[in-house]
This record gives sequence, structure tokens and C-alpha cells, in this order.
Amino acid sequence: MTVTLTPVLSRTWDVDRSWTRAVYEEHEGYSALRTALGRTPDEITQMVKDSELRGRGGAGFPTGNKWGFIPQGGDKPVYLVVNADESEPGTCKDVPFMMANPHELVEGVIIASYAIRAAHAFIYLRGEVVHVLRRLQAAVAEAYEAGYAGTDILGSGYDLEITVHAGAGAYICGEETALLDSLEGRRGQPRLRPPFPAIAGLYASPTVINNVESIASVPSIVRNGPEWFAGLGTDDEDPRKRSKGMVLYSLSGHVNGPGQYEAPMGVTLRELLELSGGVRDGHELKFWTPGGSSTPLLTAEHLDVPLSFEGIAGAKSMLGTRALQVFDETTCVVRAVLRWTEFYAHESCGKCTPCREGTYWLVQILRRLESGEGTRAEVEEDIEKLLDISDNILGRSFCALADGAVAPITSSLQYFRDEYLAHVEHGGCPLDPAASTLFAPQGAGAKTR
Ligand SMILES: Cc1cc2nc3c(=O)[nH]c(=O)nc-3n(C[C@H](O)[C@H](O)[C@H](O)COP(=O)(O)O)c2cc1C
Ligand code: SF4
Repeated sequence: MTVTLTPVLSRTWDVDRSWTRAVYEEHEGYSALRTALGRTPDEITQMVKDSELRGRGGAGFPTGNKWGFIPQGGDKPVYLVVNADESEPGTCKDVPFMMANPHELVEGVIIASYAIRAAHAFIYLRGEVVHVLRRLQAAVAEAYEAGYAGTDILGSGYDLEITVHAGAGAYICGEETALLDSLEGRRGQPRLRPPFPAIAGLYASPTVINNVESIASVPSIVRNGPEWFAGLGTDDEDPRKRSKGMVLYSLSGHVNGPGQYEAPMGVTLRELLELSGGVRDGHELKFWTPGGSSTPLLTAEHLDVPLSFEGIAGAKSMLGTRALQVFDETTCVVRAVLRWTEFYAHESCGKCTPCREGTYWLVQILRRLESGEGTRAEVEEDIEKLLDISDNILGRSFCALADGAVAPITSSLQYFRDEYLAHVEHGGCPLDPAASTLFAPQGAGAKTR
């Protein structure tokens, strides 16, 4: 076994009532806040820069640099907004984290707000997860009770209000500018940039928007020092090519041990599968997503690619949210891609034409292909049409939702074009959909027609 798990964010998850302030405080909880309040805000920002923490919400932008963009000393208030929308198919790290360890997020919120000199922080939560809403609200209330939030925090003279806000449930509201519109009470649609949120964000004021895991990583950086954090992960002489720290990897699908595995950046899927009991017994890996449904599919040939920003980019995909959805040979790739595309068509906010119209067309074509209708020539034509529409969507839409929508289509055609064609040859799907369910009898697979 080469990988060692590094439970930091997940270190208390097995403890009874891990979500309470009492348990968190028994495990060094809020000690980083005391340290941070003894330093200047700029020192904390520098610490986060030195740690080389990069955003955990998908794009991997350096967190400390983002904080450094906030203009200071102006007459407008500064805001911190935590993106807890987590709605991408396969992505499932922030919700379990917030259920098990909400105080680490709250502590991170207070430290980050202090660093950027914000007096009001918002946690924007996906609306459907009411159980998480209750847990976060309880944690914030406990923080106020202990004097960690509100006025004159721990006698430091620093004041901070924290608001937990539940959205109405839309994937697009995870896009940071759509989130801001939604938080302001408008329909969630992405904004034109520039101006960027650091200059004109929430209520047209300077705003930092960070993912839950990014903000929750801050207390451990303050507790253990930026060198400790930067000591985990991948190395390269060029700091822009390094992926540092520990992250939550979410394993799901056809695996024996689905769940959250906290490990340093740069481990491989092969290592995580060894740790988690492997692909379900009697089956083999067919394809997987490194970071949710918006990241191009990879296959068994990529099992040893380091799960770092650069490693996965080298395999022509994206690390995204480390949502490792594993599919074995019983899964029809056309069917899986159709389901994802239906999701994107449904969640398209409709603001721009390539995405609004294009995702609709993609669904129609994929439905036809999955049903196995038509002749081989028509199917070949449909495949070309899929690629052509995808090409007209990618990079030509208003936000990254549309880029994500075409990622599974183009990558599945790159690796599994024959499976698209097999549908017309079989007059339908050559695989038995029931065999891919987790309750299917072991060894089930090919359908006889
Ligand atoms: C359609 C779409 C959905 C997104 N959903 C989320 C989300 O649920 N959570 C998140 O943190 N970032 C999400 N993002 C990325 C955010 O726009 C933004 O990059 C991120 O919140 C920045 O935080 P970070 O720098 O800490 O990663 C989404 C982006 C797009 C285009
Ligand atoms: S790409 Fe899609 S989700 Fe993004 S603005 Fe355009 S229509 Fe809306």
C-alpha cells in the first residue's frame, strides 16, 4: 500500500456527535481562530498564499491570490460568500463534510472574513438539503453563543455577521456570479465579467467567493502552518504547476467501498481503489470521471494518472471536484451520457443560445442513438452532428455549464465510438441496464436479444 490517508477535514467524522461545538473544540477546534486574531489580516492572507491552497470548487484558482485582489480601504463593505451549492452529478463532498464537521467551515469563514476584512459572510447552500441547512444553522448559532461570531469576537474588536442562505435548487446557482444574483433575490443567471466579484460582487461590493472545502481548509493551514500544507501534494519547480494539500476524494458507483477518502493531491485512482476494496467483485473498470459529470471521461488506461490539477489536465480531462464516479463493463456509456446531457439541458439557465438550444438538440440525438433507431449511415451522421453541435457550444457559451455539458459527449465518442454504433447493429442497447444496478446478480452482463 503506497497511499496514506490524511484525515484532516474528516478527522472527527467517526466521533460521536462530531458536528457539535464541544466535539470540535476537543479536536483543536477554534484554536486557529485564536491564532489568527493575534495576527494581522494581511499576515493570514500571506499564510494562505504560502500554503499554495488552490480552490476546491473546480477551477483550482489560488485562494490566497483571490483574497489579495480585494481592494482595501474603500467605502464599500467587503463580503465573503461560501459556495455550498454542490449540485453536479457525482459531486458529493461538501454535503457530507458539512453534516459531519460544520464547525470547521464556520471557523474557516471567520478566519477568511477577518483576512479580507469582511463584516458579513454568507454561506449559500443548495436548497434541497434541508438537513444540512439545519446543521449549519445550529453550528453558526453555537459559534455566536461562544463569542466566535457577532460583535467583538473573543475580545479582539473584530465584528462578523454570518448568514446561512438556502437557494431554491438550481445547478446554475453554483456558478459564482449566478449565485450572487440568486443571493440578491434575483433569478440565478451568470453575470458578464469584468467586473469580477473581487471588484463588484454581492450588492456591487468587493466579494470573495470560495468553495466550502477551500474555506474549511484554512483552519488547518493556520493551525499547522503553511509549510505543512505545502508539504503535502505534488512537486514541481514551477509553483504554478503544483497541487498542494489534502483533499476529499469522493468514490462512487461500481466500487466495493464508496465514500470519502481524504488524501494528498496526486494520489491515483488505482491507489484509491486499493484502499477502498476495488471495483465491485467480478467486474472491471470501463470508464470514470475524475471530477464530476462535467469533466471528460477517462478509462482504465488512466488508472495511474496522478489526481492533481496538472496530472489530470495531462490526460486531457479536469480534476474538477474529485468526484470519482466509477463505471464497470455492465454500464452503457451512451445511456450514461444521455442521462447527464438530460441533466444539463434541464439545468441550462437559458441566457445564451448555444447552450439553451444546443443542449436540447444534443438530448434529441442521444435519445435516438440510444434507442438504436435508423440505419448505420444515419447513426454515423448523428455522431458527426453531435460533434459539430458540441464544437459550436464549447467555448462559445456564456458560462462553463455548457462546456461541462459537452465534455462527456466528446470524450465518450473518443473512447467508445464503437459502442454508439453497436446500438444500431443490435436495434437497441447491447447491454442489460439491470446488470449495471448495484443489486444485480454478480456476473450479469450481456443481454441476449
Ligand atoms: C455550472 C457551474 C456550477 C458550479 N457549481 C459549483 C458548486 O456547486 N460549488 C462550488 O464551489 N463551485 C461551483 N462552481 C465553480 C464556481 O463558479 C467558482 O469557481 C467556485 O465557487 C470558486 O471557489 P474556489 O476558488 O474556492 O474553488 C460552478 C461553476 C459552474 C460553471
Ligand atoms: S451557458 Fe447555459 S447555463 Fe451558462 S449562461 Fe448560457 S444558457 Fe445559461
